Amino acid sequence: MTLWQARMGDSPNAALLAFTQSLSFDHRIYKDDIQASIAHVSGLERSKIISPQEAETLIAGLKRVSQEIEEGKIVFIDTDEDIHTVIERRVKEICGDVGGKLHTGRSRNDQVSTALRLYLRRELKKVGTEVISLARVLLKRSEEDPTIYLPGYTHLQRAQPVLLAHHLLAHGWALLRDVDRLIDAVDRLNISPLGAGALAGSSLPLDPDKTAEDLGFKKRFDNSIDAVSDRDFVAESLFVISMIGIHLSRIGEEVAMWSSAEFGFMTLDDAFSTGSSMLPQKKNPDIAELARGKAGRLIGNLTGFLATLKGLPLSYNRDLQEDKEPIFDAIDQISLALLAIAGLMESATFNSGAMSTAADAVSSAAIDLAEWLVMKGMPFREAYTTVGMLVRDSTERHVPLEELVASHPDLGDEALELLLPGSAVKRRTTPGGAGPKVIEEQINAYRDCLINYSKTLNS
Ligand code: ARG
Repeated sequence: MTLWQARMGDSPNAALLAFTQSLSFDHRIYKDDIQASIAHVSGLERSKIISPQEAETLIAGLKRVSQEIEEGKIVFIDTDEDIHTVIERRVKEICGDVGGKLHTGRSRNDQVSTALRLYLRRELKKVGTEVISLARVLLKRSEEDPTIYLPGYTHLQRAQPVLLAHHLLAHGWALLRDVDRLIDAVDRLNISPLGAGALAGSSLPLDPDKTAEDLGFKKRFDNSIDAVSDRDFVAESLFVISMIGIHLSRIGEEVAMWSSAEFGFMTLDDAFSTGSSMLPQKKNPDIAELARGKAGRLIGNLTGFLATLKGLPLSYNRDLQEDKEPIFDAIDQISLALLAIAGLMESATFNSGAMSTAADAVSSAAIDLAEWLVMKGMPFREAYTTVGMLVRDSTERHVPLEELVASHPDLGDEALELLLPGSAVKRRTTPGGAGPKVIEEQINAYRDCLINYSKTLNS
C-alpha cells in the first residue's frame, strides 16, 4: 500500500509506480533521512506531541531500519515510492501503531530537502578534500625541481618561457578557487527546511529552530514556501562540480598534448596509460581524455537541472525529484576523475630537456630585447618596432637573430646575453610572475592557502 492510498479508490497502476518512483536512486540518502527523522521525533517529544516512550520506540525503530539498510537486509516492495516511504513503512512494521506517529507535522516536501542538504553538506566536503589532494600533488610536483622551464603559450603559440612550477600552480590556483566555492556552497545550503511541512508550516507546536540546531544547521528556513521549493543549492552544487570538471578537462587537454610525440614534454606512467586494441606501439592518455569528456556530462547535469527548475510554480512540484540523479552522478564522476588525474599527475615524468629546447628559441627573448631598450630610455612602441623588424629580418633572410642583435647600434654584444638559454625566464622578476626569484613566494602563498582550506574542510 502506498502512503496516500486512503485518498484513492483504485490501487496505483504499475506504470505510475514505475514512472514516479525514486527509490532506485534516492536510497543513497537513507542515513540522512534517518538522522533527520530522529531529530524530528525528538522535536515531537519536546513539544509533548508524543510521549518519551513513544519517542524511544520510534528512535529505536529508525535505528533498526538504518541497520537493515546498511546490511542489505531490507526488502523493497512494489509500492515503495522512495526511501522516505520505505523507512516509514518499516518503522510502522517494527513499532506497530506508534509508527503511525512518525510523520506527524512533517511532509516529504520538507523531509526530502532536509535529507538532501545533509547529504550534500557531507559529500561536497568530501569532494573538497579530493580537490585538495590533487592541488597538493601539483604543489609537490612544483617543488621537486623549480628550475625546469618550458614555453608559456598564448593562442597555442609559444609566447614566453615560464617555470614548470608556475604553469602547474596556475592549474593549482584554479582548483583552490574550486575549494573556496565548495566551502561557500556548503555554507549557503546549511539551512534547515524541517518544519516547513508541505508548504505552510503546521498547527502543531513544533520548534524548527531546535531541530535545525540538533542537525547542526546554521539556522532554520525563513519562509516555508521557499523551504520546500528551493533547489538553488542543488543547482549551485552542480555548477561548482562542473567548474571542477572544466578545470580537470583543461588539465586533461594539456596532458594529451604534452604526452604526444609532437610535444614530448611529458611521459605518462604505464599504470596511468592505456594501450590500443590493435596498434601494439600505442600508449594512450585515456584518463586525460575522459577528464575532458566527463566535463561535457557534468555541464549536461547542470543545464538539464536548470531547465527542470525554470518555470516551476511555487511551491513543491514533483519535477523537483529530478534533482537527485544529476547531482549523484556529478559527485560520483568528479570523485573518480579527481582520483585518476591526481594519480596521473603524481606519477608522470616531465621531460625537462624537451621543454627547455622548445623554450629556448631565440625569438622568445624578443620582449626582453625590447624591455632592454626601454631601460635605456627608448619609448616602448619604438623598441617594439625595432625588435619586430629584427625578428622579421632574421626570418626572411635566414640570418641568425644573434648576428643582427650584435650588429645593431642600440643593442650590440651586451644584449646578446638576453638570448642565452634560460635567460628569459630568469628575467621575470615581478610578483606572481614566471621567474625563479618570485616562484618561492608563490609556492609559499599557495601552500598556506591549501593548508587553510584543508583546515576549514575538516572543521
Ligand atoms: N521522492 C520525492 C522527491 O524526491 C519525495 C517528495 C514527494 N512529495 C510529494 N508531495 N509527492 O521529491
